[in-house]
Amino acid sequence: MSLLVVTGLSKRFGGLWAVKDLGFELAAGHILGIIGPNGAGKTSLFNLLTGFLPADSGSVRLAGTELLGRRTHAIARLGLARTFQLARPFAGLTVLESLLLPLGLPGRCTGATEQRGQAGVLLETLGLSHKADTPSEALNQGELRLLDIGRALACGPRLLLLDEPFSGLGMQAVARVAQCLRERREAGDTTLIIEHRLRELMPLIDRALVLNFGARLAEGTPQAIAGNVQVIEAYLGRRGVLA
Ligand SMILES: Nc1ncnc2c1ncn2[C@@H]1O[C@H](COP(=O)(O)OP(=O)(O)OP(=O)(O)O)[C@@H](O)[C@H]1O
Ligand SMILES: [Mg+2]
Repeated sequence: MSLLVVTGLSKRFGGLWAVKDLGFELAAGHILGIIGPNGAGKTSLFNLLTGFLPADSGSVRLAGTELLGRRTHAIARLGLARTFQLARPFAGLTVLESLLLPLGLPGRCTGATEQRGQAGVLLETLGLSHKADTPSEALNQGELRLLDIGRALACGPRLLLLDEPFSGLGMQAVARVAQCLRERREAGDTTLIIEHRLRELMPLIDRALVLNFGARLAEGTPQAIAGNVQVIEAYLGRRGVLA
């Protein structure tokens, strides 16, 4: 059964279609990779799904509930959490405090002890325990990205949207994030992941959706996508990463 059903989704900026008549479904418990060249509309798609951008037309249903037209915080309450292509610090908060904030939201942890316990587990999982008391402004871009992922995970989302989570990370950190996502899948949770690092992405995902000029170029298993000539052409200059 599909957790997310997107149909006829479109967004235009002046004469440019950022997302054009896009439709796809995402099964509960799956990891769907979103790939495509720069400017293909991947981040715009996330902005539409999460209410950061109003759509021109279409429908986005989460477990049957229409998301289009709802505000970002209402969509978050329905169980969506996202990370950002450019991770930013949480002004004035330490790493630990940045995680305690979402863990303290209604419907999350029942008390301070549980919040601290969950934050500790997330810090450990992401390899950030030694940074717990560091101001988030003092983190480097890779650490900020991990914290942004931790913050999104701390929301306990049924649908997690990750925008280039591997960007700027070393192999060890990529492996940690990938392990988190596998554990989410085992728990029946669902993830959408935009990523250019296909070598790391492909073994992780159940299916891939390829965007080009805002539209769907192809969709299928990682194996089928890796053998698709159109996909390789859309990634001109990136041939090596599909090998
Ligand atoms: N707020 C905006 N106003 C005008 N044009 C925009 C806006 N946001 C995105 N675009 C344009 O929409 C197109 C899709 O951009 P988007 O950021 O969604 O691409 P992307 O697939 O995420 O690319 P990348 O891989 O570089 O992150 C691009 O041509 C971009 O310039
Ligand atoms: Mg983007």
